[in-house]
Amino acid sequence: MSDDFDFGGGVPPWGRSAAEYEAFFALSDVPPSARILDCGGGPSSFAAEWSRNGRYVVAADPMYRFSARDFLADFDLTAAQMLAGMQKARDRFEWDYYGSPEDVVQRRRAVLTAFIADFQSATRSGRYVSACLPELPFLSKSFDLVLCSHLLFLYSAEFDAETHISFLRELLRVGREVRVFPLLDMDGNPSAHLEDIIQTLRASTRVELVPLSFEFRSGDSKMLRLAH
Ligand SMILES: C[S@@+](CC[C@H](N)C(=O)[O-])C[C@H]1O[C@@H](n2cnc3c(N)ncnc32)[C@H](O)[C@@H]1O
Repeated sequence: MSDDFDFGGGVPPWGRSAAEYEAFFALSDVPPSARILDCGGGPSSFAAEWSRNGRYVVAADPMYRFSARDFLADFDLTAAQMLAGMQKARDRFEWDYYGSPEDVVQRRRAVLTAFIADFQSATRSGRYVSACLPELPFLSKSFDLVLCSHLLFLYSAEFDAETHISFLRELLRVGREVRVFPLLDMDGNPSAHLEDIIQTLRASTRVELVPLSFEFRSGDSKMLRLAH
């Protein structure tokens, strides 16, 4: 595991729900038997919710080495900062899906509660694996689908193009198909790495930019789909 790429304890407890994953990964085509990895799953409740519905989902993240209490500690501070940020930049978001900044905060709180309940009860079942790109502790092709939400491209300032490619190659090693969202960076601009990465991966991989009906940050309405 490489600590170079680990945000340590500095990741805000700001996770997305299964409904949000379904929207921005267009998951309606995923067969019930699919083995799914949520890489960089963090405090998302996707693994908890889909597992409850009988789906096979493993979540991997370096933060899973911490205890549930650590995730809770920063929520109120994060929520206050996020709320202020969204209120200030209100016109840079589309509000059809969420309604209001307050609604986003409420959802994030519910997601964190659902995640923590599952994390505390499911650790022994192996659903949550402490792991860090670019080296995942899974055999090649262990998963039919790998999801990566709000890690790649969003953190374009922290991770250069080469690092993105090493992360994506590892995701493609463990999975038959990889879906990544979002493709905009933290400032809401198209990631400066995206074009180069697409060109590089095209030599060995089927690369598709899939238009979505989901859009929250303005212009953030495509996901990257990679397959062997
Ligand atoms: C912004 S959160 C997104 C959480 C979740 N995927 C969601 O969309 O709700 C980014 C997550 O990436 C994880 N992360 C950071 N570096 C990583 C790495 N090298 N490998 C795997 N996960 C990493 C962080 O710990 C954090 O939980």
